[in-house]
Amino acid sequence: MSAGFVGRRVELALLDSVCSKANADNRPAAALISGVPGSGKSRLLAELRSRRRATHVLGVVGYESAFQVPLGAAANLLRGLGKVSDAGEMLREFLFGPHPVDDRSLEPLRLFEAARRALLGLEGSILLVADDLQWVDDLSLALCSYLIRSAAEEEIPFAVIAATRPTSRGLAFQDSLIKDLGEERVSTIDLGPLEPDEGVQLIRQLGPQLSAQRVAELWTRSKGSPFWLGFLARSGEEHDLGGYIATSQRGLGRDAARILALLSVATRPMEAPELEALLEWDHARTEDAIADLERSGLAVVHGVAVGLSHDLIRASAMGQLSAPSRRELHALLATFLERHAA
Ligand SMILES: Nc1ncnc2c1ncn2[C@@H]1O[C@H](COP(=O)(O)OP(=O)(O)OP(=O)(O)O)[C@@H](O)[C@H]1O
Ligand SMILES: [Mg+2]
Repeated sequence: MSAGFVGRRVELALLDSVCSKANADNRPAAALISGVPGSGKSRLLAELRSRRRATHVLGVVGYESAFQVPLGAAANLLRGLGKVSDAGEMLREFLFGPHPVDDRSLEPLRLFEAARRALLGLEGSILLVADDLQWVDDLSLALCSYLIRSAAEEEIPFAVIAATRPTSRGLAFQDSLIKDLGEERVSTIDLGPLEPDEGVQLIRQLGPQLSAQRVAELWTRSKGSPFWLGFLARSGEEHDLGGYIATSQRGLGRDAARILALLSVATRPMEAPELEALLEWDHARTEDAIADLERSGLAVVHGVAVGLSHDLIRASAMGQLSAPSRRELHALLATFLERHAA
């Protein structure tokens, strides 16, 4: 059961104003929403879409499993543009027609140009919604930028709202937006926790039977994260939490699992070079393990520091470590700190 949407009034007002700005000046305007896993980015985008702030809504979504597939994230966008009656002809031809294999190096440019023509054929305002930017492949990102620049040149009311976990990929997209549109046309939203009254409203929807004391307790433990609020309100059981972490951990490689354990024991974020020295791994191995852990949603990277994405993950991951593993990790940390203090 999905609960009714709560809160986020300030954020929705800002996103609305980005759409209005694009429509009022016949020029692109953009917003980038950044937030840790479970902070409610996708839900906010869904709410925005339901408000129908544009004549046409186009979508791009990154998938972890399709990250390596060129244009994988833009498949829906291309299909949508391919439906534009006359202007979409060239794109339809490109996507569905027989394919001469003359000069492959020109293919992306031809495709981008065909998509641009289709875009110019749309009448009315356009909203491009991009979610999970951290998993959008390079070519799809390049296509988005190409369309944004085209809309700027051709004076099209084009609003771009993108959401990302806090990763370098999101920041790079923000930089390219600023370069193409200018700082004054790019807004950013750091999606933090829900307000206490909104959080309580959400818990009440999900667990109407819960006592006031339990509601307050869930609020405190979740720290306002919509995902964790929902999780705790639905399950209410400690072993469900352990089960969730165990399932998320199952997909992790050995190295990522080791960093997860270490972060849980250290009870603080750690920097990549610190992990590298402590674990005596080379740079590439450490970076791969961090990326693996970040993909799982259990950890987030801010600059060079890696931290768990929520305290509940720490407690639960700790609970899954055997006493000897815990001792071994504490010893490893202690020796490392002593060596560095000396
Ligand atoms: N404002 C809200 N009102 C009601 N429910 C919400 C709200 N925000 C988030 N939720 C619920 O919390 C859960 C997590 O939200 P969501 O999936 O949007 O997070 P996310 O930031 O997109 O996470 P991820 O980075 O993993 O994609 C979902 O079940 C969603 O429906
Ligand atoms: Mg999401």
